[in-house]
Amino acid sequence: MNGIKIRGTGRSVPGKLVTNQDLERIVDTSGEWIASRTGIQTRRHCAGEETFSSITAEAARRALEDAGVPPDQIGACIVATVTPETLVPSAACGLQAALGLPEDIPCFDLNAACTGFLFALHTMECLLNASPRKFGLVVGAENLSRVVNWADRGTCILFGDGAGAAVVECREGWPSVSAVLGCHGNGELLRLPGPETGEPSYISMEGTKVFKFAVEAVPWCVNQVLQKTGRTVEDVDFFVFHQANARIIDLAVRKCRIPPEKYYKNIAEYGNTSAASIPLVLSELREQGKIGPGSRLLAVGFGGGLTWGGCLIEFA
Ligand code: UT7
Repeated sequence: MNGIKIRGTGRSVPGKLVTNQDLERIVDTSGEWIASRTGIQTRRHCAGEETFSSITAEAARRALEDAGVPPDQIGACIVATVTPETLVPSAACGLQAALGLPEDIPCFDLNAACTGFLFALHTMECLLNASPRKFGLVVGAENLSRVVNWADRGTCILFGDGAGAAVVECREGWPSVSAVLGCHGNGELLRLPGPETGEPSYISMEGTKVFKFAVEAVPWCVNQVLQKTGRTVEDVDFFVFHQANARIIDLAVRKCRIPPEKYYKNIAEYGNTSAASIPLVLSELREQGKIGPGSRLLAVGFGGGLTWGGCLIEFA
């Protein structure tokens, strides 16, 4: 099987900034509690003209531009999300129309909660191996502000909106992303009911239990990907983690002995953006010149489902 590499990245976050102080006026919380327990200072919320669809299309357009790949070269499009604007048509079908992607390709949404972008990268690698076109569009996008319970201070302070995208290229001789993906069905720890279930469509979470799961899952995924690829921490240029809580990242990097110059946190600015968090990090790292052609990254995600996963990703 041929592997994929990232050719370009893009991102879009809505302009509406919501600070911890703004949330102090909505729920019984303090900016100090939020910052010290989560690392979050601000998050972005969709409002007015800025919608899930607009930020998703913007991120995807920027990734195509960055990659220098015209839409008609795209062989598949996957949007990882749990908050599409409509269930039908899918967000990916929306992108087909908005960007003018070819009509003879698969475009679909994928739900693996906060691990969605990595499930999508692996799926894209499989799809491009069976496609005459060499490029794929992988997007992670969320409008979580729409599904938070503003009466639950344990969750409403955490989540934000955003979209990140990557254009990947598949070529003979390139290494696979060597995905390690897993699931453990559990509807109690982290839940977002769909319509017509009789339950409100809000996120609920047993935070401390999910925290404990996450601090075990992240180092486990790092080690599994290193083992599968025969690599060491030294062989990896950058580690990219799902941004759910700064303390989860701090504990994981300590356990895996990852030096501070090899990882990055933007949770202070965006909060937890679920499937968008990993591609948002990728896009910022690329813009800042911290990663680029030839870089080798190890990305790890974890979240609702429960789901977890890791991939080794190279930049073309
Ligand atoms: O992306 C998907 C995966 N998600 C995650 O990985 C999230 C993992 N979990 C977490 O990040 C943390 O568990 C939270 C940030 C959600 C919560 O932090 P915690 O340290 O686990 O706090 P806790 O839920 O154990 O609550 C501690 C105390 C409680 O008060 P009592 O019972 O000790 O009096 C809560 O009621 O903090 C209280 N509390 C708050 N206080 C002020 C909970 N939320 C807030 C709040 N402001 N917003």
